[in-house]
Amino acid sequence: MKRRSFLSILGWGGLLAWLATVLGGMVRFAFPNVLFEPGKKVKLTKPEDYPIGSVTFWAEKRLFLFRGKEGFRAMSAICTHLGCTVRDSVKVDNEYPQDHSHCPCHGSVFARDGKVLSGPARRPLESYRVSLPPDGYLQVDKDKQVAADWYFTV
Ligand code: FES
Repeated sequence: MKRRSFLSILGWGGLLAWLATVLGGMVRFAFPNVLFEPGKKVKLTKPEDYPIGSVTFWAEKRLFLFRGKEGFRAMSAICTHLGCTVRDSVKVDNEYPQDHSHCPCHGSVFARDGKVLSGPARRPLESYRVSLPPDGYLQVDKDKQVAADWYFTV
């Protein structure tokens, strides 16, 4: 191969490689990385599975479900400080005269209604809307926040 042909192939090859890289980047830019999150509706079991006065905690769902005489109330178990999962509800002890939950990360303590009893968290735990779709299974909608004293009655 002649020197001139070799340099010509090298030059055109480099130009095509550069062009492919630029065009590939532009096409890639048109399709950004998208994180598809799972649905924010959490399906639970039937209402009769939760006796009055019960507190149910799911670490994997990061959710509390309370059933009182007033009805059902769902509360987030995601600490409002930095997002750790708070621990299961603890009954009254020497330090706190009411049921409460501890965050294992930095020690925030939350009352059963979500209020902060001890920091560093400043905001209360969020409460979510509970509903009963026609299939008869309770559903918690984590997209719909409600007041801490909001109850769903069956
Ligand atoms: Fe809960 Fe920091 S994440 S106290």
